Amino acid sequence: MRRALALAASVEGTTSPNPHVGCVLVKDGRVVAEGATEPPPGRHAEAVALANAGDAARGADACVTLEPCSHTGRTPPCADALIAAGVARVIVAIADPDAKVAGSGIARLRDAGVQVETGDGEAGAARLLEAYIKHRTTGLPFIIAKFAATLDGKIAAASGDSRWVAGDAARAWAHEFRTKVDAIMCGVNNVLLDDPQLTARPGGAIAGKQPLRVIADSRGRTPLTAKALGAGGRTLIATTGASPAAWRDDIAARGAEVAVLPAGEDGRVDLRALVRMLGERDVLSLLAEGGGVLHGSLFAAALVDKVHAIIAPKIVGGSLYPAVAGEGAARMADAIALRDVETLSLGDDVAFIGYVR
Ligand SMILES: NC(=O)c1ccc[n+]([C@@H]2O[C@H](COP(=O)([O-])OP(=O)(O)OC[C@H]3O[C@@H](n4cnc5c(N)ncnc54)[C@H](OP(=O)(O)O)[C@@H]3O)[C@@H](O)[C@H]2O)c1
Repeated sequence: MRRALALAASVEGTTSPNPHVGCVLVKDGRVVAEGATEPPPGRHAEAVALANAGDAARGADACVTLEPCSHTGRTPPCADALIAAGVARVIVAIADPDAKVAGSGIARLRDAGVQVETGDGEAGAARLLEAYIKHRTTGLPFIIAKFAATLDGKIAAASGDSRWVAGDAARAWAHEFRTKVDAIMCGVNNVLLDDPQLTARPGGAIAGKQPLRVIADSRGRTPLTAKALGAGGRTLIATTGASPAAWRDDIAARGAEVAVLPAGEDGRVDLRALVRMLGERDVLSLLAEGGGVLHGSLFAAALVDKVHAIIAPKIVGGSLYPAVAGEGAARMADAIALRDVETLSLGDDVAFIGYVR
């Protein structure tokens, strides 16, 4: 199962809206074939492994990181393919939360006389598929709030300049991570002050598959010259009825999509409505990259699932540009605590990765 999990991890970010899954076929203590989910409209991991195994699949054990599917989508059901190939036993890390499967793949295998065991590799598979699981169980994307801050929690200097808070290693790590998500979001102040491209550039080169770029811009302040409207990916500007119709037309003419959403009590884009819309469009994972005002609203609306906080050993001072703005917690007991925290050394910087309790 460890190998199946590694195979699944190796294709993370390439299979959405399908889950990234790994499958290993083992016979007489030897791996006879393996497979990982192909990019849509490609084959599921089990189909790849079975094709690689040929006749050797007969009597083998199949280790799969997610319950084999039982419905015909773009590909025929994997449970049927495993049965037809004569697999003797299927070891499944986790059941598929998708309502179209939800135990029916395991039931179909058992009905055909295939032995099924569940639970091996459960924690690893659930973690790998955290975005898929949230999306399939709530309809909403899994939201990661990412920021690079100084020791005193600032994401920019007093002028708004933020190049660069963190060092090369942290920026390289962040670009690599962008390749794994379906969408990246930022607030319009970030566009105005920093003019980011919002593209994934692992190793400095533009990635083949780019996340959807989402800009929260209630009043239509994104300039037509913004780099985030340029080449490198699709862009969606989430706005409200307060933005000028002519600006919306101009943005659309630049090739970006304009989504007019309800405004919240503060007159800004209703983030719940935005993430619901993104979920309906099969955005499973959303990386919110700030700034602090947007992060403040996301935390206040309890929309954040996970935090990627990169802390650089610098001090800016002052009170401008906190990593998370808004009203803030009145008491330390009310602070948002993270669980299952991991730390990562990135040059002189440290990344804190954890889940919102
Ligand atoms: N170090 C880092 O990790 C990092 C990351 C990003 C940015 N930055 C820096 O941070 C600075 C910008 O950050 P910022 O905190 O001032 O602004 P921001 O979060 O980038 O943008 C906030 C703006 O987004 C718009 N918005 C639309 N809907 C919203 C909602 N529901 N909630 C909150 N905002 C919403 C609002 O403008 P409207 O009301 O006009 O819509 C709001 O003023 C820049 O200096 C940038 O370089 C640093």
